[in-house]
Amino acid sequence: MAKMWAGRFKKDANAKLDSFNTSLPFDCRLYKQDIQGSLVHSKMLEKQGILSKKDVDLIQEGLHSILDQIESHEIEFTKAEDIHMFIEEKLTNEIGDAGKRLHTARSRNDQVALDIRLYVKEEIIEIQKFLFQILDSLCVAAKSHLKTYMPGYTHLQRAQPITFAHWCMAYANMFKRDIIRLQNTYSLMNECPLGCAALATTTYSIDREYTASRLDFLKPTDNSLDGVSDRDYCVELCSDLSLIMVHLSRMSEEIIQWCSLEFHFVELDDAFSTGSSIMPQKKNPDICELIRGKSGRAIGDLNTLLVMLKGLPLAYNKDMQEDKEAVFDCIDTVKECLDVFIPMFQTMKICKDNMMHACLHGFINATDLADYLTKKGLPFRDAYHIVGQIVGYGIENKKSLNELSLKEYKKFHASFEEDVYQYIDIETCVNNRKVYGGPSPESVSIQIQNVEDFIKQEACYESVSYT
Ligand code: ARG
Repeated sequence: MAKMWAGRFKKDANAKLDSFNTSLPFDCRLYKQDIQGSLVHSKMLEKQGILSKKDVDLIQEGLHSILDQIESHEIEFTKAEDIHMFIEEKLTNEIGDAGKRLHTARSRNDQVALDIRLYVKEEIIEIQKFLFQILDSLCVAAKSHLKTYMPGYTHLQRAQPITFAHWCMAYANMFKRDIIRLQNTYSLMNECPLGCAALATTTYSIDREYTASRLDFLKPTDNSLDGVSDRDYCVELCSDLSLIMVHLSRMSEEIIQWCSLEFHFVELDDAFSTGSSIMPQKKNPDICELIRGKSGRAIGDLNTLLVMLKGLPLAYNKDMQEDKEAVFDCIDTVKECLDVFIPMFQTMKICKDNMMHACLHGFINATDLADYLTKKGLPFRDAYHIVGQIVGYGIENKKSLNELSLKEYKKFHASFEEDVYQYIDIETCVNNRKVYGGPSPESVSIQIQNVEDFIKQEACYESVSYT
């Protein structure tokens, strides 16, 4: 079939060009956004007296019917250069000449720029919904584990006692920032490119303000060259999504470690675990490992976009067609990961006793012992040195700090008294860290409250319907 743009060509396109050039196999998912844009564009053309009411009524009816047919699978995406051509061709088949008038004062360049923006805006809200769910799950877990003691680690070495609740709220803060980052991306991209046309707007007297507001954008983009060639928001989106994946991946990595018999801090529900084909005893954390692996895809997608954009002259270049698969893959990956990670986390069993057991070994209350001496009047550096010697003694004699007798303590310094045992008790160590942001139940309760307040004032972008 002759191409819509074939006027100046003397030969048909080579079949290889067609299959190489087409974006329909992947941009077909933008059908709804494309129709939304055309519905508003045609109304604007009518309002401005550029198209007649009769034509626009036909266009509106035709587009609605195409939308219904796509959604009921009556129309299949067979062959076209892209989703924009596909819909325009279908429309013209259905309504004749009026269909050919729709593209007045528009180009595929502003059309595609609009479609991806609309798509990204919707997906940001969907991903935020998942993130709110994960925040909620973390708060629920934190509330029931305010006194579930576990070692906090640095260099993967037992460091100081914290609680599982404190750990949960660390991740909650990361996901809270992820929601805010997505909100920032949303606000910055909330401008409508429609009307930029190919690159230099149009000689028709169009109303870009109207189009922008009907499509739920704050305003039209300020410069038409920028409007058609800007994909910054795709980069920002993939950067935000990469960070979400990094957060999920770090959390997954910890859960993978914690599932091992060496830690045995948690047990995944059978429904979210996998087995081995040869080793009957195995119960593997495949979900976490896949998430850790898939974080590479998101980071790769971000890289694809940056590299694709960096050498492009203004304005539109076909390279930009490559943005879609990266953006779609990144969005799909994040949603898929969150969708399975959340119930896996919610059903994960916390092995409180094993966590506590790990607190009793590894001298994680050594800092508290030094603080004890400091509070008795010793300079911290001296206290630190003495406790270092006590730890060395404990290692040699296979005794934890709680197991040393007062007599043994006194050999190191006279100011040790009976109250030392209470002071270095794991629960006391945690409770004494009442500082803002710390692990004590009071401090963690404030952290939970802060996140819950954030969830309550959840910024909600209403979805709009386009007619
Ligand atoms: N399929 C193209 C894309 O995804 C649409 C824009 C095509 N514009 C053009 N002048 N060839 O980028």
